[in-house]
Amino acid sequence: MKVVVTFPIPDVAKQMISEQAVLQCWESEESIPTSTLIDWATDADAILTTLTCSIDSELLAHAQQLKVISTVSVGVDHIDVDAAAEHGVIVGHTPGVLTDSTADLTLALMLGVGRRVAEGDALIRSGAWSDGWKPNLLLGTDLSGATVGLIGLGPIGQAVATRLKGFGCRVLASNRTLRSVEGIELVDRDILLSTADIVSLHTALTPETSGMIGRRELALMQDGAMLINTARGALVDEAALVAEIKSGRLRAGLDVYAEEPLPLASELRELPGCVLLPHVGSATERTRRAMFELALANLFAGLQGRDLPARLGAA
Ligand code: GLV
Repeated sequence: MKVVVTFPIPDVAKQMISEQAVLQCWESEESIPTSTLIDWATDADAILTTLTCSIDSELLAHAQQLKVISTVSVGVDHIDVDAAAEHGVIVGHTPGVLTDSTADLTLALMLGVGRRVAEGDALIRSGAWSDGWKPNLLLGTDLSGATVGLIGLGPIGQAVATRLKGFGCRVLASNRTLRSVEGIELVDRDILLSTADIVSLHTALTPETSGMIGRRELALMQDGAMLINTARGALVDEAALVAEIKSGRLRAGLDVYAEEPLPLASELRELPGCVLLPHVGSATERTRRAMFELALANLFAGLQGRDLPARLGAA
């Protein structure tokens, strides 16, 4: 059996995989070239990968022996899951273990934008804070008591709601499955957009959700409202968002972008009304370890023909 790993992994993990299969591991921090991956995947039984590596229908067509793809991510938008299903390839991912870390970071962005944390830090570092406390310095908005609208009410959306209740927020949500959760008001998406002080995205990126927050949806948001995105950049029309932030009408806290890394030319970099993070929602030592361990467990289960601990689409 052969396992392809598309990113550098610790020696101990290499050892574990090598005890069961021939290992071919990409050792560079640069992404594995598509042609190399296709070549390596031709006789692979399993692929261990991350969200920066696209597994498309062309690759799947070449990988005739492939049984399992295990990704160290909860999101699977980098994998053509329909093509995988057509080829009988099982997909494993890492739900659950990153819920709390991602919810924590969502709150960090809400507080960071509302209380202008990055602007305050920049003010001091630049030496421009020269005259002490001032009554109108960096006035922001409170998270306490705010009305927050969550688009998507899966585990991460619910974990965000739990935290928001501690801040005395009114929590609205719109969700495809109309899941009802105590203390959260389920509302139509347009009502949510036009009512909330803060709109936060917690839905997977699929062909149906791509671009779901466009010019029209942003225009529905209240003056001064904030958009938070710790899900996927392509959920939002980034150019339309830039225009709204530039005009001073909306603010934003973003961890994810349509294109990653964020291109140097992106206007977002120049806009003070937003806080930008480099896709670090799950980036704590404990969570990343748990994600990697779950992805390895998925990989080994797939190789051995057992049920995956976290198979995509399993209830
Ligand atoms: C992170 O974005 C993930 O999907 O795990």
